[in-house]
Amino acid sequence: MDRTINGYFGDIYKNKKVLITGHTGFKGSWLSLWLTELGANVIGYSLEPPTEPNLFEAITLKDKITHIIGDVRDEEHLISIFEKYQPEFVFHLAAQPLVRVSYKEPKLTYETNVMGTINVLEAVKKIKSVRVCVIITSDKCYENKEWVYGYRETDPVGGYDPYSSSKGCAELVTSAYRRSFFNPEDYSKTHNVALSSVRAGNVIGGGDWGEDRIIPDCIRAIAKNKAINIRSPQATRPWQYVLEPLSGYLLLGALMYEDGGKYSSAWNFGPNDESIKTVEDLVNLVIKYWDGGTYTIDTLNHPHEAGLLKLDASKARALLGWKPIYDVYKAVEKTINWYKNFYNGMRNEKLYEFTVGVLWEYVNRMSDEYGMMGEKGD
Ligand SMILES: NC(=O)c1ccc[n+]([C@@H]2O[C@H](COP(=O)([O-])OP(=O)(O)OC[C@H]3O[C@@H](n4cnc5c(N)ncnc54)[C@H](O)[C@@H]3O)[C@@H](O)[C@H]2O)c1
Repeated sequence: MDRTINGYFGDIYKNKKVLITGHTGFKGSWLSLWLTELGANVIGYSLEPPTEPNLFEAITLKDKITHIIGDVRDEEHLISIFEKYQPEFVFHLAAQPLVRVSYKEPKLTYETNVMGTINVLEAVKKIKSVRVCVIITSDKCYENKEWVYGYRETDPVGGYDPYSSSKGCAELVTSAYRRSFFNPEDYSKTHNVALSSVRAGNVIGGGDWGEDRIIPDCIRAIAKNKAINIRSPQATRPWQYVLEPLSGYLLLGALMYEDGGKYSSAWNFGPNDESIKTVEDLVNLVIKYWDGGTYTIDTLNHPHEAGLLKLDASKARALLGWKPIYDVYKAVEKTINWYKNFYNGMRNEKLYEFTVGVLWEYVNRMSDEYGMMGEKGD
């Protein structure tokens, strides 16, 4: 693969139709932005942005892609969109992504995360234009044993709470569809679909206002001059800058496009060990980079959430050549810088240009790290 031009992924995505579910969400907006910068034709299919404010509207992404409001639980509508746009690539991110909401809305969580995934896979089965399908699940899909070492792709999936379990189910569904309908051994004989699932850690970056997520909680509190309320100070998570897993998804998608049979499987994209920190450590970093803020520890009883969670990304490193670029310090610094601009009133085209700059700064760092060229306009 030509990895030397235009930011690492070569021309693979240029002029390609890429359908993203969940494009109005935090990760989906960044992925849509990155793909448009790579020259792809992005078709987004989602419900309305899940929060107010949100990155999708703040950077006016609607004007840059084909924006479709739709529900992944509505199979007929979803398939009609696949039929109309004939995508070659599919990145499925749409989900009910929050553990605490899943305790309140377990049925909605399973319907969205499991049946929604099945509907996407049915669309891929029916519409023959699709060559690459990447299903985004979570590090929480693993049966959590509170191990001190990282989970590998071969470890059993499971999940204590409905969210984690729904992502474990989405993994099982993806694996069954891969074996039954898109078997890598039959690639280019009976079908032309490469199907993978991807599991990333806790993602941080500018533009997330998700409920009950630590960075948005910090930002909301600091912006109102209030103390940050921490629920589980000692919970340990693999913190990652938002562009880290997205670089993995894009690299994987490009390789799947080139050699579908070889790359169709499950992949972890986790950070280096030094980025695995407690929630309290992360909050202290936020306060440092914001240069202000205080916190209190919430002593109330909360529903169960995993205490210790680590991902082993050796497979992606060895077989895809993927690696993390920003450590947790850089990730928090970049994240806080983005929010500072937002809360200083930057919006629309100006915020869009700034966000594109953040993306290209990352891509150029990536290119340096990987030893490749990636300056914008190469
Ligand atoms: N943010 C993280 O730290 C993290 C970590 C691991 C995995 N993930 C996974 O990454 C994906 C994206 O997460 P995010 O942080 O961007 O979440 P988000 O809440 O910001 O975005 C979710 C997106 O899904 C859409 N959506 C929800 N229900 C839908 C439905 N029924 N039909 C169509 N669209 C629907 C929303 O409109 C939104 O576009 C999710 O699958 C999530 O589980 C996120």
